[in-house]
Amino acid sequence: MDHKKLSGKIALVTGSSRGIGRAVVERLSREGAAVVINYLSSSDRADEVAAAITSGGGTAVALQADVSGIEGIQRLFDKTLEHFGRLDILVNNAGIRITRTVADTPEDEFDRLFAINFKGPFFACQQAARRISDGGRIINISSAVTRMMLPGYAIYAASKAAVDQLTRVLAKEIGERQVTVNAVCPGPVDTELLREGKTEAQLQAMAQMAAFNRLGNAEDIADVVAFLAGDDARWVTGQMIHVNGGYI
Ligand SMILES: NC(=O)c1ccc[n+]([C@@H]2O[C@H](COP(=O)([O-])OP(=O)(O)OC[C@H]3O[C@@H](n4cnc5c(N)ncnc54)[C@H](OP(=O)(O)O)[C@@H]3O)[C@@H](O)[C@H]2O)c1
Repeated sequence: MDHKKLSGKIALVTGSSRGIGRAVVERLSREGAAVVINYLSSSDRADEVAAAITSGGGTAVALQADVSGIEGIQRLFDKTLEHFGRLDILVNNAGIRITRTVADTPEDEFDRLFAINFKGPFFACQQAARRISDGGRIINISSAVTRMMLPGYAIYAASKAAVDQLTRVLAKEIGERQVTVNAVCPGPVDTELLREGKTEAQLQAMAQMAAFNRLGNAEDIADVVAFLAGDDARWVTGQMIHVNGGYI
């Protein structure tokens, strides 16, 4: 008998060719879920993640889709349902970070960031509200920066705060189908997104803000996502779960 806690479940994780998303698909797969690996342009990396999962006995498919607009999101859900016949777990993880002062932010950067970080999760949640199985799980990846006053982070933090509010409202709207909706809010996690544009000294300073004197790693986040995806978290909904090693 198979005792894995997510056996028989189908999980879609946006932006899972690398970073936190990759660790999430690998973790959900180890728990027995079949996974959809979504990516924007890193087809080689997505194929490598799929190959690593399938060679370990798991089930995975890599699907390209730009999740910053409705067309890509709808196609991603259509293909997922065509391939696996159902969807039980959605993790809205794809995201970008642009840091610039309010005074210096151009309109096109504002629009691009909000399209990927908020419009994408919103319309993926819409698809899930219509098509996810009863008892399903929606997990949005937010950020610790919503609790901070970091110069340069206005649009990034605002996009994540919007995701938090979407999480709270959707939890109430969809609760009668026993679907839970939660946000996971990481502090600094050692990925390409974090390292971009930072010196080692800046990364060290961030690490020192955590109680454990290190940066988070993607697996620290994936483990909490896996908890929320399972039955043990059935009474957790509409919550922002901060996973940051005591960073804030
Ligand atoms: N790292 C941190 O310190 C940190 C902290 C708090 C929150 N977060 C959040 O955690 C999430 C993952 O961050 P990360 O650090 O793992 O980022 P990352 O290493 O830069 O990876 C980003 C992933 O998102 C995908 N992606 C980007 N734009 C996309 C689009 N339009 N459509 C589909 N996929 C897209 C990328 O695909 P390609 O490979 O094809 O480009 C990649 O798989 C983000 O929402 C981020 O805001 C990160």
